[in-house]
Amino acid sequence: MQLADGIATANSATNAGRPGDPCVMVIFGASGDLTKRKLIPALYNLAKDNLLSKDFALVGVARNEMNTDEFRDMINKEIGDFATTKLDPQQWEWLSKRIYYISGDFADPVVYQNLSTLLATLDKEHNTRGNYFFYLATSPSFFAPVINQLGAAGLVSEENGWRRVIIEKPFGRDYDSARKLNKDIRKVLDEKQIYRIDHYLGKETVQNILVFRFANGIFEPIWNRRYIDHIQITVSETVGVEQRGMYYDTAGTLRDMVPNHIFQLISLTAMEPPVSFDADVVRDEQAKILRALTPMNDEEVLSRTVRGQYGEGIVKGQKVQAYRSEPMVAPDSRTETFVAMKLFIDNWRWADVPFYLRTGKSLPKRATQIAIQFKRAPFVLFRKTAVDRLEPNRLILHLQPDEGISLSFGAKIPGPVVQIGGVNMNFNYTDYFNATPQTGYERLLYDCMLGDATLFQRSDMVETAWHVVAPIQDVWDALPPRKFPNYAAGTWGPPEADELLAKDHRHWITE
Ligand code: BG6
Repeated sequence: MQLADGIATANSATNAGRPGDPCVMVIFGASGDLTKRKLIPALYNLAKDNLLSKDFALVGVARNEMNTDEFRDMINKEIGDFATTKLDPQQWEWLSKRIYYISGDFADPVVYQNLSTLLATLDKEHNTRGNYFFYLATSPSFFAPVINQLGAAGLVSEENGWRRVIIEKPFGRDYDSARKLNKDIRKVLDEKQIYRIDHYLGKETVQNILVFRFANGIFEPIWNRRYIDHIQITVSETVGVEQRGMYYDTAGTLRDMVPNHIFQLISLTAMEPPVSFDADVVRDEQAKILRALTPMNDEEVLSRTVRGQYGEGIVKGQKVQAYRSEPMVAPDSRTETFVAMKLFIDNWRWADVPFYLRTGKSLPKRATQIAIQFKRAPFVLFRKTAVDRLEPNRLILHLQPDEGISLSFGAKIPGPVVQIGGVNMNFNYTDYFNATPQTGYERLLYDCMLGDATLFQRSDMVETAWHVVAPIQDVWDALPPRKFPNYAAGTWGPPEADELLAKDHRHWITE
């Protein structure tokens, strides 16, 4: 397959690759993992691709006692381990000289006074023109307090330059807390200043779902209930909870993955074609899908959802301990590490088409994929042949770690007898485009610098997603404790996950 001539790039496309606006990025929680693993390497990649303004500066804010020189030294040491490409020393020096640090407690107003003074200095030194965006790489309990302090210090009013705030998930832990968070932060910020990040939308293969569907004429006509039997979304991880037991044991897989990452995948797969790439036009279409996801009643929760927790087992040849033995996890924890469910989208395009999803930790294979299974062809022609069944066609969007798209279909096995063999047509990203590896945060940071919120969550989307997930959590919480663990690490979840599909005469696609 060749990349056909004349296929235009999209969205940040409308900005034709110009550098982001002059600005200062301020990271709260700058001494944490996200800064060194993703944010700094992403900024470096943007600088290398001329997508970062020459008039850019970065300020880290965290509790750790350090000055700017010490912070720069720390980052200088770490960047080698986390950069996604070989560093160009000159380019790196350019960026590292624009990095500053303020230490202090996020609850202390003095931090914000110091920040205000520093930002004014940077506007002069680096010509950043009063444009600031604040990245809250902190625990969610700090979102509202930090935003309040920014408001009190006058740092979010847009009289002299734009001001934006990026927050990371989780956006609340249920419908009420999400509403409260939205209400609290909107006392200080306008909705258009809030950028709720879902890192799945930074992934190239996730962005490609829209291009695949809407830049090609052949798929859209069959992308509906007339031709599609069902859709499966799998997000499987081989890792356990690692060092995140404290957060994870109060969240669980449902909250951690479903209303955010998986609902993004569903909405991009199922949405109607938007009429433009304007942020609200795209997000309106996504929101319509979320609103059409039918919340389950109690009985449906029992028959259409499955939860599991891993016990000890073997993953990739290594012995793995049970979830309950992981650091900072309660020894009698009831938290789920696996979820599977069947959902429906109640609209004309998708009525009666099941969307099966499953996600979990300590599974046999790392794979994120969307499988579209088409309806079987009529068997009529093959009745009197040696063929005993026709396999349905399947289109799989492989999002990670393999990145590509495959289409399976039946072909005649050479020979005098009519027999059919299943074959695959594969597209692998690695065979095309020559793209350099990225962190997945480049596009999101860049879009924020340009004021393009298309790939960020709007408050109504977040609240609607919780509205769908909350009834499930409520029923689970009300039931007597499950017999956990109920799957061995290194297996595909509890047997009920297979039964969920077997009841419908289907099975999970694992390829
Ligand atoms: C995070 C979840 O949002 O996404 C983690 O909190 C999960 O539990 C991670 O491991 C998965 O992201 P990715 O990019 O590795 O698929």
